[in-house]
Amino acid sequence: LAAPRVLRPMADDLDQLKAEENACTRCPLYENATQAVPGEGPRDADLMVVGEQPGDQEDLAGRPFVGPAGQMFDRIAREAGIERDRAFVTNAVKHFKFTPKGKRRIHQNPNTSEIKACRFWVKSEIELIRPKLILSMGGTAAESLTGSRKGILSRRGSIEATEGGVPVFLTVHPSYLLRLPDPALREDETEKFRADLKSAQAHL
Ligand code: URA
Repeated sequence: LAAPRVLRPMADDLDQLKAEENACTRCPLYENATQAVPGEGPRDADLMVVGEQPGDQEDLAGRPFVGPAGQMFDRIAREAGIERDRAFVTNAVKHFKFTPKGKRRIHQNPNTSEIKACRFWVKSEIELIRPKLILSMGGTAAESLTGSRKGILSRRGSIEATEGGVPVFLTVHPSYLLRLPDPALREDETEKFRADLKSAQAHL
């Protein structure tokens, strides 16, 4: 008697999705990164937060937003009434892209083909979590979620698109604030970011 055919299940839980993301070869970024950094957070989160890609610390830890940009996000989100632990936090690109410089690894922006390749995983996460709102932070997340590369500063603060039926609220990336050299400008931009997060929270 032939054994019954067992179909390989679809990624129906986060652990399986994590394993599948770690086996991904859809673009070359897996070659140099330590590991894929999958999204993390509650399975029933109302809010999904999408950043750019793991940085140096995230690549080593295997967790999103644990470095300086993540700490900045956690603080301002808390001030805006968003608890990071209740959100599903992820990135548009799952592997760290960098060039080595001595002992350091210098962040490189992902390009359009890498962003497109990784959309598969972002969409899988959205299908699994089914959030009420997606908070898209920075140009890479905006490109992944809306398909448009238009500058984020002129688009921030509103819902511009839907992904899988879920509204996408656009804002800047917290590392943009960290890079601003002028303290007064940084303070202004931090206030605008906080206001964006409050406005996103009001849509939940
Ligand atoms: N920046 C991101 O976009 N994502 C991270 O996980 C860390 C830094």
